[in-house]
Amino acid sequence: MQEKIEHIRKEFQQDLIQASSSKLADQLKVKYLGKKGVVQELMLQLKEASKELRPLLGKEINILKEEITALCEQLVKRLHEQEEWQRMEVEKLDVTLPGRRSFHGRKHPIYLLRDQILSVLSSMGFSIQYGPDLDSDYYNYEGLNFPPDHPARDMQDTFYITEAYLLRSHTSNTQLRVMEAHKPPIRIAAPGTVYRNETVSARSHVFFHQVEGMYINEGVSFADLFATLKEFFQKLFCKPVELRFRPSYFPFVEPGVEVDVRCTSCAGAGCRLCKQTGWLEVAGAGMVHPNVLQNGGIDPEVYSGYAWGMGIERLAMTLYGVKDIRMFTENDLRFLSQF
Ligand code: DAH
Repeated sequence: MQEKIEHIRKEFQQDLIQASSSKLADQLKVKYLGKKGVVQELMLQLKEASKELRPLLGKEINILKEEITALCEQLVKRLHEQEEWQRMEVEKLDVTLPGRRSFHGRKHPIYLLRDQILSVLSSMGFSIQYGPDLDSDYYNYEGLNFPPDHPARDMQDTFYITEAYLLRSHTSNTQLRVMEAHKPPIRIAAPGTVYRNETVSARSHVFFHQVEGMYINEGVSFADLFATLKEFFQKLFCKPVELRFRPSYFPFVEPGVEVDVRCTSCAGAGCRLCKQTGWLEVAGAGMVHPNVLQNGGIDPEVYSGYAWGMGIERLAMTLYGVKDIRMFTENDLRFLSQF
């Protein structure tokens, strides 16, 4: 029996040297210390030994068991550490590799400009209002002093949904709604998408964006309109601008004007941007027509007001030198990422 114990001790030492992975180490543990393992086997054989020898042999077996247990634990710990190092060696990060660029979304140039316009107008005391894209003929036309069959309706080719409903052709559809909901003084800016049944080309699209401005109070004059627009465009363009009003016709204002600014590119000398005129058309404007005030429940004998509307695409094309309005809807990232 004594010899057997010694033999097992040697055999274990051999096996220990062979165990080169934690998996083999586990197997080794099972082989010697498991329920049907070598040490347990020895314990069973103990019964066969003589009574006198049994305590001594039992002690020897226990010593062997402790030795094996301790060595196995050491082995497992060492192998785990070793394997951890090997794993880290393989998975090593090269911190000097250039990073991968992630794509960042950004605001569309039309919305960037819209936000700039609104922030300038907010700073001038205009509050932001929104009107519906799908609206009744009344708010878009009739209430704004466009009687049925009035030729001015043909100025804007309209998408009618039914006879009474349409996609708004201009943000002026917000004017009456605001008048109905608020008492003067009213000072609002209304941004939005507008729709026109036009052939898509470099200069026109079936939908685009406008911002409407309106101020109604006692004693509002044409000079206030001029001064406000001048301040607005100076703040938007971040430089002094020269403004010019040309008489024009819109049924909802009287008088009505087209607003031009001195060409930002050639300062009036004449260039391709301003088509040699020296001026850029930037808005339609005028004094709110008494009929419109009346329709909005505001007494035209007491109050007066001005309004203007401008196309954001048109302004963006002017400011950024974009020659084709379709660029704004094509979603070409090479174009969009410039803004
Ligand atoms: N709604 C007009 C258009 O889309 C622009 C316009 C002209 C708005 C004169 C106004 C205005 O408020 O007073 O063509």
